[in-house]
Amino acid sequence: MRRFRRLRSGEGIRRLVRETHISRKELIYPIFVEEGEGIKLPVESMPGVFRYSLDTVDEILRETDKSGISGVLVFGIPKHKDEKASQAYDENGITQRAVRLIKEKYPEMLVIADVCLCEYTSHGHCGVVCGHEILNDETLPLLAKMAVSLAEAGADIIAPSDMMDGRVSFLRRALDENGFINTPIMSYSAKFASGYYSPFRDAADSAPGFGDRRTYQMDFPNGREALREIADDIDEGADIVMVKPALAYLDVIRSARDRFDLPIAAYNVSGEYSMVKAAAANGWIDEKRIILENLTAIKRAGADIIITYHALEAAEWLEEI
Ligand code: PBG
Ligand code: ZN
Repeated sequence: MRRFRRLRSGEGIRRLVRETHISRKELIYPIFVEEGEGIKLPVESMPGVFRYSLDTVDEILRETDKSGISGVLVFGIPKHKDEKASQAYDENGITQRAVRLIKEKYPEMLVIADVCLCEYTSHGHCGVVCGHEILNDETLPLLAKMAVSLAEAGADIIAPSDMMDGRVSFLRRALDENGFINTPIMSYSAKFASGYYSPFRDAADSAPGFGDRRTYQMDFPNGREALREIADDIDEGADIVMVKPALAYLDVIRSARDRFDLPIAAYNVSGEYSMVKAAAANGWIDEKRIILENLTAIKRAGADIIITYHALEAAEWLEEI
C-alpha cells in the first residue's frame, strides 16, 4: 500500500517535506497616510488598520521596520480633492511628503507608491471624467506627473493601479525622460472590478461618487483576458506584474506564473482581510491558522510577492528560512 501518512506522522517530517514556504521578505504592508495632525483613525471596516497623519505614522513604520518584511505600499489621502486630482502630483502633496519622510527615516525600507487618481478626485474615479465617461488618454499625463513626482520624492517602485490602457509605456517614458531610468514599475496588470475592495474605499476615502469602475477594471469572469492584460503590460515595460484580488483569483496567479517569467505580485485585498477579521472576532475561525493558510495558498498558486494587511501579524508567525 502507498502510505502517504508516513510523511505526515509528526511535525519534524512534515516540515522536512513541506513544499511551500513564505519568507517575510516577500511581504508588503499597505499603509494609509492622511493630512492633519495627531491622527490615528481606526478604519471601521478593517479591524487593526489605521489612518495616520505624518506626525503619528512612525508608530507603524517602526513596527514594519522591526518585522523583517520588505516594505510598504503607500496610500495618501488629501484634504482637498478636485476634478483634476491636483494633489496627486503636487510636490508637497500628502503622499509625496509621506514617501519623503519614510525614505529619510528608513532608507532600507522599500517604498512602493500606488499611482492612481481616485483618492484625489472629487468624483472618486481613477481617471479624468467628462460627463459620466472616464477618459483614458486624458488621464495618462496626470498619472505620469504623479509617478514622476513620487519618484522625485524617493519612491523605490511605482505601482499604477488605475487600469487605463497604455499607462505602463506612458509612465515608463515619463520616468525615463526625467532621469528615473532605474525606477521599476509594478503594474496592477490584472485588476478585477471586485466587491472585495469595499473596505479599502472606506480606508482611502475613494469610493466613486457615481457609477462604478467596470468600464476600466476587468470583468471578473475573464481569466484569458487577464493574461492578455499581463502580456501587454510586460510588452509596455512593466518590471513586476500584479494580480488583484488574490484569493478568488488563484487560477489567474497560477496561469500567469506558468506563462511569464517576471516577478508576480498578488494583492490580498481589504475585503479578503476584513472577512477573516470579522469571522475571527465572532470566534468562528482560528484566525492565525486561516491567515497562514490563505497566504500559503497565494504563494502556492505562484505569487512571488504578497501585498497584505496581514503582513505584520504574519511576519511574527512565519518561520524564517
Ligand atoms: C486605487 C486602489 C484600490 C485598491 C488599491 N488601489 C481601490 C479600487 O480600485 O477601488 C484596493 C485595495 C484593497 O481593496 O485593499 N485604485
Ligand atoms: Zn483608483
